[in-house]
Amino acid sequence: MTLKTDITEMFGIKHPIASAAMGPFRTTELAIAVTEAGGLGMISHAHQSMDGREVDAIVALKKNLDYVVEHTDGIFGFNIRTSRLTVDCDKLIEETSKHIMGNPKLREQCLYALTSAGSAKRLPLHKDFQKLREKTQIKHFHVAPALWLADKCVAAGCDGLVVTGFEGGGHQSYEKVGGLVLLQQVQQKHPDIPKIACGGFATGAGMAAALALGAGGIAMGSRFIASHDSEFHENYKNVVPPSKAQDTLVSTGSLGTIRLWRNKYALSKGLVRSKEEKMAEEKALVDHRTAISKEDLAEELRKDAYAAFAAYQGDMENGAVLIGQSIGIINQIDSVSDIIETIIKDAEKALKNANNFVQ
Ligand SMILES: Cc1cc2nc3c(=O)[nH]c(=O)nc-3n(C[C@H](O)[C@H](O)[C@H](O)COP(=O)(O)O)c2cc1C
Repeated sequence: MTLKTDITEMFGIKHPIASAAMGPFRTTELAIAVTEAGGLGMISHAHQSMDGREVDAIVALKKNLDYVVEHTDGIFGFNIRTSRLTVDCDKLIEETSKHIMGNPKLREQCLYALTSAGSAKRLPLHKDFQKLREKTQIKHFHVAPALWLADKCVAAGCDGLVVTGFEGGGHQSYEKVGGLVLLQQVQQKHPDIPKIACGGFATGAGMAAALALGAGGIAMGSRFIASHDSEFHENYKNVVPPSKAQDTLVSTGSLGTIRLWRNKYALSKGLVRSKEEKMAEEKALVDHRTAISKEDLAEELRKDAYAAFAAYQGDMENGAVLIGQSIGIINQIDSVSDIIETIIKDAEKALKNANNFVQ
């Protein structure tokens, strides 16, 4: 049995399950495992190349695209965070689009361009991405954490949305809308646009709920971190199964609004403040009007980036452990193929059981 949805049809994939974007970390092995298991693998907006060294994001993305396409014949995608704070964002779009265009195998297989954390228009307005869109079957999705942001994605001509609720791990939004309400809102207003539900998904029952609410698939971050195939450190993975859903908090800092595992690092950061305050702070940073000197800002960015990489490499005390509330429903570390098979089987069971209510 398989689940056939608008997402499996759009991408020609077996299962409507994607791996979520998890920059700034390298997620190429995970992307390959998800794609090979019949899902939609994701190359994150990373600052890490294949050997784990910290590098320029443009260099990293191109190398990671090459690595993934060499190791699978399936379909996968990439993420670009289009935030105002992303350094060289247009250059990244230009070079990535040209790089895919220049490789026939990438043109066939890299069909999922996911933007997030910024404008939904930035990618489709770029002439190099427009050329790529004309010549290939690539589809552009953008992350929508609130209804008004979903409206903007639709207006920008996105092919689909990743509807991400506040339960989700890592990069979050000030909008603070839970996935259950958000999916219903977006489905009511935009019933026809393809949707991937994201944030808090880790089981077949959750997937069945997402499909019932109008999504054509789910994306998962935390569930795939806790897999044998992900590149995250064993200590990071071992945080997941014993943790409870309430063991995370949403904090601020130069990493943005992020959901973190509650540890020494997370508690040392400011808790999430108002949207207006955060927007003003970001604008001031972009305009170089901050009270904080450029040097101090660079130092803060360096420290937070260091904390993120420290966790990825196993420091669970001082590291920034990006993770979602779904840790409360993840009971063991499994292989990606087992995770996907189990979720599909359980989702089918849940959908059939629910169908028994219909008389
Ligand atoms: C370690 C980590 C890094 C993340 N980095 C990004 C990112 O670079 N871009 C992005 O759009 N979302 C990012 N996110 C958010 C995920 O794409 C996704 O919304 C989240 O993992 C969904 O919740 P879940 O963990 O419950 O599956 C990150 C999440 C995690 C856990």
